[in-house]
Amino acid sequence: MENGKRASWSGQLAFVIAAAASAIGLGNLWRFPYLAAQYGGGIFIAIYLVLVVTLGFTLMVTEIAVGRKTQQAPLTAYSLLHRKWGFVGFLGTIIPVLITPYYCVIGGWVLYYLKAYAQIAFTGVDVLGEGAANSGAFFSSFISAPFAPFGYGLVFILACAAVIVLGVKNGIEKSNMIMMPVLFVMAIAISLYVVFLPGSGDGLKYYLVPNLDCVTGPDGRFSIALLGKTILGAMGQMFYSLSLAMGIMITYGSYMKKTDSIEKCVRRIEVFDTLIALIAGLMIIPVVYMFAVKTGTDVHDAMNAGPGLMFITLPKVFATLGAVGPWIGMGFFLLVAFAAATSAISLFEACVASACDMLKIERKAATFFTTALIMFLSVFSALGYGAWGHVKLHVFPNDGGMQFLDFFDFITNSVLMPVVAIATCIFVGWVMGPRAVIDECEAGGCKMKAKGVYTVMVKYLAPALMVALLISEVCRALGIGGWKI
Ligand code: PHE
Repeated sequence: MENGKRASWSGQLAFVIAAAASAIGLGNLWRFPYLAAQYGGGIFIAIYLVLVVTLGFTLMVTEIAVGRKTQQAPLTAYSLLHRKWGFVGFLGTIIPVLITPYYCVIGGWVLYYLKAYAQIAFTGVDVLGEGAANSGAFFSSFISAPFAPFGYGLVFILACAAVIVLGVKNGIEKSNMIMMPVLFVMAIAISLYVVFLPGSGDGLKYYLVPNLDCVTGPDGRFSIALLGKTILGAMGQMFYSLSLAMGIMITYGSYMKKTDSIEKCVRRIEVFDTLIALIAGLMIIPVVYMFAVKTGTDVHDAMNAGPGLMFITLPKVFATLGAVGPWIGMGFFLLVAFAAATSAISLFEACVASACDMLKIERKAATFFTTALIMFLSVFSALGYGAWGHVKLHVFPNDGGMQFLDFFDFITNSVLMPVVAIATCIFVGWVMGPRAVIDECEAGGCKMKAKGVYTVMVKYLAPALMVALLISEVCRALGIGGWKI
């Protein structure tokens, strides 16, 4: 609420940019390139694209329509549509409350690296040490420090809170207008630099050319099980990358004008998000490939995902680029910081908007309480690799245990998010009926083109695929079924 009236975007473009800013995040940068490299390059990319325009489209249209129709954030949106289905909104609100703290802790790691690279670039002091040869030790000594990970996370949280308190137009929209163009320009500049580096050709081939190894069993024959794993891998990535089932698209949809076309907006968001994922691959894969060849490492082993890629491998790679290395490193971490910030802001907003709508309080008060809660919860993830490193959380008695950050990640990404998506599809497909969403899409007078695809997807295919994803994610996290990735 802003001045008693529901806030709204200043226009269709502002909404598309905000939703794309949420979608473009760490998932695009540290997970997509790795999955594409491990799952057969072009094959993975093709499967990913098909899933984005079908399943991703369906889920995103649904969430945005629920938000716009109810003019509510997730916590109250579902109960307004149907008294008995309010629990979906409740689950959908717990997700951002659990993700925001650990996402901000990772944002803090990125700030720490940004500072380190700025120091190297501007002062020449080699803080990473010996051409980043010890980047592994540098990273682990940081994340296990008693206070630093919390301190940097706190800076990140407060920066997001400062944007949120300013509101939808003055805070979120304006900050996106600065961060998103910088992110795009940086990504294009770094990827062009990498693509034109002498010797990048083999890495590009490795990334883009379809490689059947990912669907070939040890006996050299086509394996349907491996194809299934590739599809599920692409599906999990797409689901996360489009910021689905996190309450975000419902919240952002609730600020959308009735006259704007949901269908067109979703198509544009998909294009932006996929483009940055593809560009991230161009930035990262060729240099990691060249680095692996130079150091005699197996390419598959060098191409890791997540924190290992971003905070350990890439600094080593940047160190091989000579005098431009620190500048590329600084540009890269600035890009990552912006990508993480715009995603964290959207998560934060889902929490704040839910508090505003449920408790009927002003944005300032809701931001204050939400920030306090997020700060408190972030302590667990920030200290989980250091002072509280001995604490292990179990899902099953003998699963080996997980650190706080991994545990929150597992509960949200692998369990709650697919469950919320399944419940949403069943509710919309069978209780409320797809017609309600189609009508909402056509409220502004524009016809929805993909009505048929939408109806079939939301009723049958999407819930079935989401159940498969839920099962596979749980098996993967618990090490059942020999998942490689
Ligand atoms: N879509 C984001 C990404 O790719 C995921 C995300 C969004 C995570 C918002 C947290 C908050 O990283």
